[in-house]
Amino acid sequence: MLPENSQYAIETRNLSIFYGNFEAVKNVNLQIEKQRITAIIGPSGCGKSTLLRAFNRMNDFVPSSHVKGEILLHGTNLYGKEIDPVEVRRKIGMVFQKPNPFPKSIYENIAWGARINGYKGNMDDLVEQSLRGAALWDEVKDKLKQSAYALSGGQQQRLCIARAIAVQPEIILMDEPASALDPISTLRIEELMQELKKNYTIIIVTHNMQQAARVSDYTAMMMLYEDTRSGTVIEYDKTEIIFTRPKDKRTEDYVTGRFG
Ligand SMILES: Nc1ncnc2c1ncn2[C@@H]1O[C@H](COP(=O)(O)OP(=O)(O)O)[C@@H](O)[C@H]1O
Ligand SMILES: [Mg+2]
Repeated sequence: MLPENSQYAIETRNLSIFYGNFEAVKNVNLQIEKQRITAIIGPSGCGKSTLLRAFNRMNDFVPSSHVKGEILLHGTNLYGKEIDPVEVRRKIGMVFQKPNPFPKSIYENIAWGARINGYKGNMDDLVEQSLRGAALWDEVKDKLKQSAYALSGGQQQRLCIARAIAVQPEIILMDEPASALDPISTLRIEELMQELKKNYTIIIVTHNMQQAARVSDYTAMMMLYEDTRSGTVIEYDKTEIIFTRPKDKRTEDYVTGRFG
């Protein structure tokens, strides 16, 4: 079991992430604040998704991948021998770039995951609560038995968020969750994130600078090291500072669009 209390939602210590011999992410030290939105930004290929997936051990599905250093949840290393990765993924949920509902009804998209996680309560209530929590209930309450595929892209993404919160995670990881969506659906996801942060910690990868500036409280800027193909976090601060007076010239060039 994972203990319950610490100052930060999650923390990395000298974290490096490898694919075989290739060190994709090198030496990251981050302290993610609870019930805040933290954005991870940086040019393509610098390791944003790799870092995000390490937070809930999703990289375990890539057989060659391994980590050095630690990721601490409440002071416990998530890569410790006694840790069950399935339990990690329940506590730390994930929403992907492309909405990926199951080929099931709207209702079952939420009920199925919860059932697998051993949920014993009233399923109708859980489905309603989760859909309300993802600002989708009013749009789907009359068609819960219909296929999730009948929903629009933006609705499907909110359904995936509802599915993620149904198992009551502490942290929700989002990898470019709106980049496949139209501007209105994107705005709805951003508004929803502001609601969700009252109860959850959110870490979002985005290549959209306006989005990072709009939604996040903290921003981690990633970049490749010179002379290697390894990425790292070069600057981490309140979003307002990253976007108005960053300390690193490379951050300034990136957020003002001069690079990347
Ligand atoms: N499954 C994988 N196997 C091997 N290399 C990978 C894998 N996924 C990503 N990489 C490599 O790791 C580096 C970082 O990729 P990624 O985390 O996807 O970057 P970003 O999300 O910032 O674009 C890249 O060099 C990429 O080619
Ligand atoms: Mg990526």
